Amino acid sequence: MAAISVIPGDGIGPEVVESALGLVDAFGLGLDVDVLDHVGAERYRREGVALGEADLARVAASGAVLLGAIGRPDLEHTGYVRDVLLELRYAFDLYANYRPVRLWHDRLSPLRDPARRALDCVIVRENTEGLYSGIGGNLRASSDHEVAVDADVNTRHGVSRILDFAFATARREVCLVDKANAVRAGGRLWQECWRRAAERHPDTATRHLYVDAAAMKLVTEPERFDVIVASNSHGDILSDLAAALAGGIGLAPSASLNPESGFGMFEPVHGSAPDIAGRGVANPFACLLTAALLLRHLGHDTEAAATEAAVAGSIAAGRTTPDLGGTLSTREATRAVLAAL
Ligand code: NAI
Ligand code: MG
Repeated sequence: MAAISVIPGDGIGPEVVESALGLVDAFGLGLDVDVLDHVGAERYRREGVALGEADLARVAASGAVLLGAIGRPDLEHTGYVRDVLLELRYAFDLYANYRPVRLWHDRLSPLRDPARRALDCVIVRENTEGLYSGIGGNLRASSDHEVAVDADVNTRHGVSRILDFAFATARREVCLVDKANAVRAGGRLWQECWRRAAERHPDTATRHLYVDAAAMKLVTEPERFDVIVASNSHGDILSDLAAALAGGIGLAPSASLNPESGFGMFEPVHGSAPDIAGRGVANPFACLLTAALLLRHLGHDTEAAATEAAVAGSIAAGRTTPDLGGTLSTREATRAVLAAL
């Protein structure tokens, strides 16, 4: 059984995954790696298959999967991205999406006040239901009276388990973010599950914010947040906002986890970045920090911490790609981190 299966994917995906595999290799842990480099837009265009049964079986036979990015502009109107990403999330029931946000260096923060810069939080995003469930459709399509409906799916089971995961993740506080004042049925369910989850975890402080206020508070007092738990769509949006506050999307890692089975899919928050793909300038740090989450998941805490320290050191020394103000290529920035290990 391979310890890690790898789906490099499209655009800058293979470029940043190469960095992460170089890192894993540098630790010499003897981890067996199974690379599925045929999964991607090219094969989907040729064969109409994004992720086949055999691919899923290979992923299932590994301990965790590392994914670069999936998506290409000419396939945006097809179900391609959903076919890969949602298929993996559903196949392994990866309901908890864990997105740590940490300001790695003052220089990267758009926040002028130093007190605002102690940004170190985790966004816990529900990953299997909500607005992205794909339930809905179009009525009277292409007519002047077309109606389009996407259902916001919330189940007691799904909401309760993501809230418990958030409490298990918290160091001091869990902040529930929703829009219960406007989205009533789902809002009521989240609020009721929230009260019960808080009762199950009496030692953790709680806070509740509507999503619009949460967006504002993330900018005005980001240092106050510890764990933010939110639905699929709200978590998606807030994590890009938080990532920008912490220096940009090129630094944001994520893990999609099933705490019961222990299986996890690890991927940078960013997509395939077609605007910079193939130029060798993609920031590898998000993928290296994702590899750190993966190593920690596999029990290699020392290597994970060393990776995070080496990334922080490279940022402090200005040894970065252009998005963080440096002049290095993807490979040069990767080498800077490996040299700092
Ligand atoms: P994106 O994250 O690919 O790019 C947004 C912006 O951030 C671009 O200007 C890009 O150049 C920049 N950027 C992203 N990663 C970077 C990195 N490592 N270093 C430097 N700059 C970086 O999001 P976008 O453009 O909305 O989507 C592009 C494609 O990716 C689409 O097909 C979309 O469906 C797909 N996508 C896939 C995801 C995944 O595989 N998990 C997540 C988000 C989008
Ligand atoms: Mg997103």
